[in-house]
Amino acid sequence: MKLSNNTVLITGGASGIGFALAKAFIESKNTVIICGRDRDKLHAAKEQLPQLTTFYCDITKTQDLSELQAQLSTRFPKLNMLINNAGMQQSIDFTGTGVDETRIDREIDTNLTAHIKLTNRLLPLLSSQDTSRIVFIGSALGRVTKHSTPIYSATKAAVHSFAESLRHQLANTSTKVTEVIPDLVATSMTQDRQNTKKMHPATLAKSVLRGIRKNNSKILVGRTRLLFGLHRLTPKVAERIINKPQRC
Ligand SMILES: NC(=O)c1ccc[n+]([C@@H]2O[C@H](COP(=O)([O-])OP(=O)(O)OC[C@H]3O[C@@H](n4cnc5c(N)ncnc54)[C@H](OP(=O)(O)O)[C@@H]3O)[C@@H](O)[C@H]2O)c1
Repeated sequence: MKLSNNTVLITGGASGIGFALAKAFIESKNTVIICGRDRDKLHAAKEQLPQLTTFYCDITKTQDLSELQAQLSTRFPKLNMLINNAGMQQSIDFTGTGVDETRIDREIDTNLTAHIKLTNRLLPLLSSQDTSRIVFIGSALGRVTKHSTPIYSATKAAVHSFAESLRHQLANTSTKVTEVIPDLVATSMTQDRQNTKKMHPATLAKSVLRGIRKNNSKILVGRTRLLFGLHRLTPKVAERIINKPQRC
């Protein structure tokens, strides 16, 4: 896929991996739209990258999704890439006195349901273009479970499954599906993980753009290829690696 002159929506694009992707796509001469829930962060992102279009949108809210969809259809009819990036990760312990269900709902809504809904809403616009792509930012923890973040791992496993089904359903269309499996990346999500090697978000973004240029349906970045190989051979060793030092 060509890497310039695309119109790209990145959810959660005001910080972390999303912002690094926004910067990389702008540098490659694309039109980039980001959305997020934090107006200050959106404002700061726009100050750093004035070419950005920013939308306030909590992707878990139906009303916000409807407004985003309407704005995109009228202002960005050439939208041809959706990057489902927004996400959250919580440590949740089911051995205690019971987990607050709002925490469970919030994580599933943010990491899974919202991506499926937004994809569903934007597919007609995306598939009306000559070429288009839907990118999911997955996680190695969807394959090799991290025990302290059970909902996160479950949602990322489900994102992988959804991306696979969607890729097959869209196989004979102009819309392609890519799943990205990042290495551990230095963002606010991983700030509490000490003594662990983390990748710079810009390095990840470079790998993602390279993979998209090559039309890769899966982009495994950094050590994740090795981890998946190990998991195929000796799943217990891979699980031990993930669950000893803190990894994302
Ligand atoms: N960092 C890693 O090592 C790593 C590894 C594998 C996968 N990932 C995945 O990469 C993606 C980005 O994570 P990150 O590391 O960049 O984390 P991050 O810095 O915490 O960024 C997450 C972004 O998601 C946005 N967001 C969260 N809930 C949202 C909602 N309801 N509506 C709209 N935006 C929302 C946040 O924006 P607001 O706060 O403004 O809402 C924020 O910009 C996530 O899907 C994560 O699971 C990260």
